[in-house]
Amino acid sequence: MIHNQWYAILPSKSVKVGKISAIKRLNLSLALFRLQSGELGCVADQCTHRGAALSKGIVKGNCIQCPFHGLEFNEKGKCTLIPANGKASIEDISRYNVKSYPVREKNGIVYVWYGEESKVTTNLPFFDDFVDESYSYSEIEDHWNSHYSRSVENQLDVVHLPFIHYNTIGKGNKTLVNGPKAEFDGTTLRTSASNQLDEGQTPKPASECVINKTTFLNFRFPNIWMNHINEQLKVIIYFAPVDDENTILYIRFYCKISKCMFINSIIAYFGKFGNRVIERQDKRIVITQMPKASSLQSNEKLVSGDGPIVLYRTIREKLKNGEE
Ligand code: FES
Ligand SMILES: [Fe+2]
Repeated sequence: MIHNQWYAILPSKSVKVGKISAIKRLNLSLALFRLQSGELGCVADQCTHRGAALSKGIVKGNCIQCPFHGLEFNEKGKCTLIPANGKASIEDISRYNVKSYPVREKNGIVYVWYGEESKVTTNLPFFDDFVDESYSYSEIEDHWNSHYSRSVENQLDVVHLPFIHYNTIGKGNKTLVNGPKAEFDGTTLRTSASNQLDEGQTPKPASECVINKTTFLNFRFPNIWMNHINEQLKVIIYFAPVDDENTILYIRFYCKISKCMFINSIIAYFGKFGNRVIERQDKRIVITQMPKASSLQSNEKLVSGDGPIVLYRTIREKLKNGEE
């Protein structure tokens, strides 16, 4: 995991008012709940008293109450009450505090800050510059038994298209990979495919390729990706890391083909079935990759077409080392 990043971890609608959501993300067991204002709280899902899961408790006002002996904690993890000691107790109970995690939501996505609280930024990674409320979208999810780095790389991989997707988006046997050109501008990694039928020609090096202006792939660290199919259609995926071997992909299909939102929502609805077929083609193979997590230093024998993946690994490594 890269430190000091906002990770998109689950859809906002999964956290209901008055209920505590137990989720495993970023190798952490978390309890998420809503305050009376509707804002989110996120604390470690383990009571400091005798280790019970707080998520089995209840929401009481702006606190959650442990199901075992009733200790209460607010959204900052501060222990506000130990019933056994009585409401009138004046004992300093700060040693019972649980760890809390900064949490925000935007565009229907919950983000958790993984890192030092003093380094929290205001910038939640998304593609606000490409989609807005004039689009309709549908969302599906799937669990992959893979490290999130592998599922991200798969979405930047133009070499696999004619193989894994030979009968869908990779139709046409375009096995020869030109480039591809891949760029990182400090925020966004961008690339596009320019594969061709192999007729004996030499593939063009990345330096002679350009990124397609209409159909391209964008990735923003740490875990959000977009396929810009065209101005009207986009696929956005956030790859929620569960632990070192599991990832949940949330896949959105955005549509703005028509001026009528209803028509757009119908197209978005059907678009998700196409996404499901493609995603399952990828999943079948990506979950077999070993080692589970990718890394810049590896024994893999890469080809030129893996350029975007090398770029991803290079930036990821720098971020992990706190260099970017
Ligand atoms: S374990 Fe939570 S109150 Fe005792
Ligand atoms: Fe794929």
